[in-house]
Formats: sequence, C-alpha cells, structure tokens
Amino acid sequence: DKRSFRHFMLKEIHEQPETAALWVARHLPEPTEGRLVALPLDPGLYEGLERVQILACGTSRHAALVGAYLLEQLAGIPTSVFYASEFRYAPPPLSRHTLTIGVTQSGETADTLAALAMEQERRRLVADPAFAPRLLGITNRPESSLARMVPHILDIGAGIEVGVAATKTFLGQLLAFYGLALALAERRGGASGPGGPRQLRDLVSQLRQLPALLERLVADHDQRCEALAHLFADTQDVIFLGRGINYPIALEGALKLKEISYIHAEGYPAGEMKHGPIALLDARVPVVSIAMPGTVFDKVLSNAQEAKARDAQLIGVAPEGPDTGLFDVLLPVPEVDELLSPLLTVIPMQLLSYHIAAHRGLDVDQPRNLAKSVTVE
Ligand code: F6R
Repeated sequence: DKRSFRHFMLKEIHEQPETAALWVARHLPEPTEGRLVALPLDPGLYEGLERVQILACGTSRHAALVGAYLLEQLAGIPTSVFYASEFRYAPPPLSRHTLTIGVTQSGETADTLAALAMEQERRRLVADPAFAPRLLGITNRPESSLARMVPHILDIGAGIEVGVAATKTFLGQLLAFYGLALALAERRGGASGPGGPRQLRDLVSQLRQLPALLERLVADHDQRCEALAHLFADTQDVIFLGRGINYPIALEGALKLKEISYIHAEGYPAGEMKHGPIALLDARVPVVSIAMPGTVFDKVLSNAQEAKARDAQLIGVAPEGPDTGLFDVLLPVPEVDELLSPLLTVIPMQLLSYHIAAHRGLDVDQPRNLAKSVTVE
C-alpha cells in the first residue's frame, strides 16, 4: 500500500533512510567488537583473490560501477564491470583467482543469470584450480533464481520494491558494495589504496551517520525538486555530468529520467564533454552537474563552467559554499568523504526524475514498455 504517497516510487524513495538504518544495524557493529564491518564472507571467495568482475544490467550496473571504484581504490583489487548482455557473447579471456559478482535486484534478469551460468561453466571445465569459479550474488530477493544458482548471496534486505524504477534497491546495492569493499580492505590488511586502517575507521564512522543524513536530504529535496519540476515542462534533452565515483550517479540520473519521464537524457564523465557532446549544448538543454569536493572537484567545476558558457541552464548537485554562484539552481548535498558521496548525490537524481514525470502526469510506477523483472533476453 502506498500510504499517503502518490506513487510507490515516491514512497520507496522515502524508505531509503530506513534501508540505510537496517544496513548500519546489521553490518556496522559497535566499535568495541573487533571487526569494523560485520559481513560473513567465505574465505574461498577472497583468499588469494587477484581480480573481480561484475555482471549486471541497467541500474544494477550503475551500482556495480560504484562498487568497482571502491574495490579498486579502497581494497586495491583490479575490478571490471560488464553489461551482462555483452559478456555472454564476448567473455574476456579467463583470468586467475577471479571473483565473479552478479548484481540483480530481482534475481531474475535473464541476461545476468545466463552470463553467470556461462562463466561458471567455462571455469568448471578448466582443471587448474586457479581458474575455479568463485561466485557471489547481490540481490534483494534471496529466494530468487539467482540465489539458487550461486553459492553465496549478499541480501540487500531493502524490502519489496513495487515501482518499476529501482530506487531503494539501488541504495541497497550500493551499501552491499560498501560493505564488501570495506570488509575486503580490512581482511587484506587495511585500505591498500590511498588511506589505511585509519581511513577505514573514518569511513565507517561517517557511514553510521548516513540514515540521519538521508532523512534530511530526502525531505529537503522532495520539496525542492517538486518546486523545480515545472521548469522541465518542455525540456527534450538533459545532460548529466559527473566524474570519478560520481560518474555512475550521472548515468543513473540520466537512466531514471529517461525511463519515467521519457525525456532524452545522457550521463557523461564531465571530462568527455569537450570530445563531442558539448556541441549539443544551448539554452534548451539543462545540464545537471554533480560536483562534490574531492579529487576531481576543481575539474568538475571547470567542466560546469564550460557548459554554462554555452548558455546551458546549470543545475548543481553540490555542497553550499563559495562555488554556489556558478549554478542557476543548487540542489545542496552535505559534504562527506568523497568515497561516500554517491550515497547522497543519488537522492536529488531520484527526486528530480520523479517530480518531472509526476508533473507531466505520467504513470511513474508503470512506465511504458518496461517491466520490473526482465526475464527475456
Ligand atoms: C532501472 C531499472 C532497470 C533494472 C534492470 C536490471 O530503474 O529498474 O534498469 O535495473 O532491468 O534489473 P535487476 O536489478 O532486477 O537485474
């Protein structure tokens, strides 16, 4: 039941603080209990691990891209992400000591299941144990076909999602990857990336604040995005820009907008704009720029400046501060460690898409041509 919400999608967006609170309660034990992250992991999944490959479709693939960033930068494990539908017919040469992760909210996506089955089978045929299959599934449906197929599952526990557009399950998938990357970084002797054990502790203590941060962010952006929606009444194209760990969030913002509002949208790594897409820009093409402080902050701001110079209407997803004046509209997001920022920047993406589609009077929960589970190839 939708309670007082107009659509399931809006209700599910509002359930995200709870999704995060449940995750914190399950996986971040009190600081005195030894391990930073409580995540039961079979040693067979990670001992001697040299590579990770992640197979997924759609929104799940965007969560996988954030996951890959974390696995590489935090746990120091080379990681590749594949569209399951591409991997099936052109798998890369087999690599040694590789963990294959299938990410599917429904646990029923045909391409993802088939890609995993193919990978499992071709590895079983190799006699050398270095190539043995190590399979992990990330899903919201622990009773699904995926869970029957792979021996290890991370259950994101987000509760049933009715809206076709994935929202709280995306947050749940992101959190599954935060848990996994932190747990692997810890087991492999601290963050082998830029920080160390201290960085892991800092991230975990900031993650404990996530439910409270999300609570405020969802309430605030629900109002802000509703008030903005009319500006997009005649919009035909929107560009979403992000870099680094927020590049996948730009992709996700564009996908959400496309699927429920039927407005054409593209997500780009901001630095790629000048290699072609900038030719699209004029006063009729709004640009949403995700600009969170960290390694690429200045670069993102200068990419946004370039868009503004082409008269694009500039919407910033950024903290309030001295750069606020650059944006025509600011959707403010509090500053957190850059590695955690996708957990916050996704909220304005979801609410902006939702309110634009609702303003257009569209069937947000059942967009045309789409189904909740894609069980055909
Ligand atoms: C987007 C959306 C789809 C799914 C995709 C994969 O909001 O819902 O892009 O993410 O069809 O679905 P799952 O995660 O069930 O494999």
